[in-house]
Amino acid sequence: MTDIHSFLLPVLRLFPPEAAHRATIRALSWGMGPRDRTADDPVLATSVWGLDFRNPIGLSAGFDKGAEVPDAMLAAGFGFVEAGTVTPLPQPGNPKPRMFRLSADKAAINRLGFNGTGLAPYVDRISKRAKRAAASRGPFGANIGKNKVTEDGAADYEIGIEAVAPYVDYLVTNISSPNTPGLRAMQGREILADMIGRALHARARAVPEKDKQPPLIIKIAPDLTAAERSDIAAVILETGVDGITVANTTVQRPADMTDPQASEAGGLSGAPLFPIALEIVADMYRLTGGKVPIIGCGGVASGADAYAMIRAGASLVQLYTALVFRGPALIPRIKQDLVDLLRRDGFSSVANAVGTGQEG
Ligand SMILES: Cc1cc2nc3c(=O)[nH]c(=O)nc-3n(C[C@H](O)[C@H](O)[C@H](O)COP(=O)(O)O)c2cc1C
Repeated sequence: MTDIHSFLLPVLRLFPPEAAHRATIRALSWGMGPRDRTADDPVLATSVWGLDFRNPIGLSAGFDKGAEVPDAMLAAGFGFVEAGTVTPLPQPGNPKPRMFRLSADKAAINRLGFNGTGLAPYVDRISKRAKRAAASRGPFGANIGKNKVTEDGAADYEIGIEAVAPYVDYLVTNISSPNTPGLRAMQGREILADMIGRALHARARAVPEKDKQPPLIIKIAPDLTAAERSDIAAVILETGVDGITVANTTVQRPADMTDPQASEAGGLSGAPLFPIALEIVADMYRLTGGKVPIIGCGGVASGADAYAMIRAGASLVQLYTALVFRGPALIPRIKQDLVDLLRRDGFSSVANAVGTGQEG
């Protein structure tokens, strides 16, 4: 990992978050990104949904909404990347400012509202990328959403899935962003079952051969009641959804937060989300009997955090906000610390450690 990137981080922090982010994506797309040249320790290798991961640490959605830099982020050391949320049609999102850095809390709040250029350029990029998939260093997931004005949300997921499914390793339906009015209602039992049924059909239309179909994952919010969580688990088990991402940003504001921007509206991510997400990972693992692989996401900022997510039941881990504060050097550090923790406790693989925090 070159020092130039840690040197640039304080400079980027002088800019408003959205401008700094745009500059980062541009630099990455010009090939100026960091490279993690160390081979991942074999103890980190894992296989989920029949996909091989060099390491279980992934980039979560929202960093690369338009699928502009997935390969640059794989080169930076992530074991997998997820791009999106992408909506069928372009839309501007909410008025700016809509992204806030809460340095005192190592957190962020965003109310972007699925801003983006829509499916057409996204599919164009990933279809070209799929043609050179042999060079790929890790699985690529597409995160699908709905346009703000669409009333029948499931219809937008069908459109998105049908367009991207041939080019991706996994699919995520994001029904948990707090910044699109009504979106999170899609986590209700009946509407969720209807959406999943239609999403599975869309996947089958796009990729008829069953063994080539990318797994379908549902990304849920961290703000669900116990009853909502068990409803979701029941629907997931009934419909045959392949995985769950736990979790998206939260509308909660934990009382110990001190940053003056904590009162901004939107979804909170980063350190204050970690204990909330960890508890829901453990709960969803228990509710699904460990049968449905979970991607644990929310406030992960260290190898110890990633290890805790895995012990709670996550087969894979994702992060975004910690990168804003720690820069790309964080990725190799998390991986090395995770290797040390797995070895310390006698685990010969990530898979052997999944859910072990729930025993005894
Ligand atoms: C600026 C920003 C934009 C995000 N956009 C999306 C998005 O488009 N789709 C999505 O599923 N999650 C989105 N997320 C949520 C992240 O993928 C992740 O679930 C959440 O931030 C918790 O992880 P973290 O604490 O490591 O950031 C966004 C997060 C941030 C900070």
